[in-house]
Amino acid sequence: MTDHSAALPVNGDRLIGRLKALGQIGALPEGGVCRLALTPEDGAGRDLVVGWMKEQGLAVAIDPIGNIFATRKGTQDGPSVMIGSHVDTVATGGIYDGNLGVLAGLEVLKALDDAGIATVRPVTVAAFTNEEGARFQPDMLGSLVHVGGLPLQEALDTISIDGTRLGDDLADIGYDGDAPLGGIQAAAYLEYHIEQGPVLEAEGVEIGVVEGVQGISWTEITLSGRASHAGATPMRLRRDAGLAAARISHGVADIARSIGGDMVGTVGSLRLRPNLVNVVAEMAQLTVDLRHPQEKVLAEAEARLAALVARVAEEEHVSFTRRRLARFEPVTFDRDLVSRVERTAKSLGLTTRRMFSGAGHDAQMLARVCPAAMVFVPSIAGLSHNIAEYTAPDDIANGLAVLGTLALELAGRANTPA
Ligand code: HGY
Ligand code: MN
Ligand code: MN
Repeated sequence: MTDHSAALPVNGDRLIGRLKALGQIGALPEGGVCRLALTPEDGAGRDLVVGWMKEQGLAVAIDPIGNIFATRKGTQDGPSVMIGSHVDTVATGGIYDGNLGVLAGLEVLKALDDAGIATVRPVTVAAFTNEEGARFQPDMLGSLVHVGGLPLQEALDTISIDGTRLGDDLADIGYDGDAPLGGIQAAAYLEYHIEQGPVLEAEGVEIGVVEGVQGISWTEITLSGRASHAGATPMRLRRDAGLAAARISHGVADIARSIGGDMVGTVGSLRLRPNLVNVVAEMAQLTVDLRHPQEKVLAEAEARLAALVARVAEEEHVSFTRRRLARFEPVTFDRDLVSRVERTAKSLGLTTRRMFSGAGHDAQMLARVCPAAMVFVPSIAGLSHNIAEYTAPDDIANGLAVLGTLALELAGRANTPA
């Protein structure tokens, strides 16, 4: 494993220990974790992390959308160097997605304490609410509110896929905080995250230098047909919402494959009513996730989806409604900060490659208000949002060394000991 003695004396084993401990909350029987945003499991995970923050003597602030900020003072006041990510997970989550970035931030602060290093700027670790967007849409909701991209009240009134109101669930887990919204400003934002895709592992590269995040378009489509008997209703008389949904789902893959390149399209959720073996479905509700690094291409895919839905609805004699769940244009990170990530990794003897992120991240929201950049490490078999999600200890240590070294550089080492 590369010698990181030149960098901040961060402790990868301590970080992995905390990842495993946090992974016990919401642990699934076959491995992996489920801590969907603002559920009791998310609340328990937050409590554990906040406990570690307080053990480290950090000033913990929670804002009205439940974003958690833990700050280590600098010798000067003013905007922080912010290290952030999220601790909510999808329902088939791994222990690394999001959690790695938050706990690595805490590890950096602990290493500063262990080394008796004072920084000029404050350093803040942030855990943003509902990054995943699995239970409440859009994703990156907490960081979007933090940067002023979504009004607080609108966010609090968001209804989950379970029919609950975000503000109520937030209060139920005790994270409806009162710290001023946007009160903790960042001079720069760093996010350390697993790649969640196959590239770094396939190329044998240790560090992904992330130049930006691709555009994302989430749409919910509700198809209304007519329930009828599966045996007695001739095909020509049906208004089959289930068939229409299946045709649209197939068409989404066709759109992605025909555009090709980096285009991806996913129907991740599909609900039928009454969802019974012998009843032609009267209602189908599906979600479509489209993504591409170029706005023009993403818009083209959206146009093709709209045409597909209209054509299938007409041919299958069903009506439909559409609801936008999320829409973010591609984001390019600050060139200088991206170069600093690259330089730092190389100075530690690590191999690097520049890349765009396939997944969304809080960094794409913080990029609206300050220079932001990300550090990726490999995902084994390119798997994430899967209970088999795994990143090797050496890779975790590599990314942690880059994060710690760069965070200290950005915060500035004070002449006085901490
Ligand atoms: O969907 C995403 O890209 C992220 O996991 N929220
Ligand atoms: Mn994530
Ligand atoms: Mn995720």
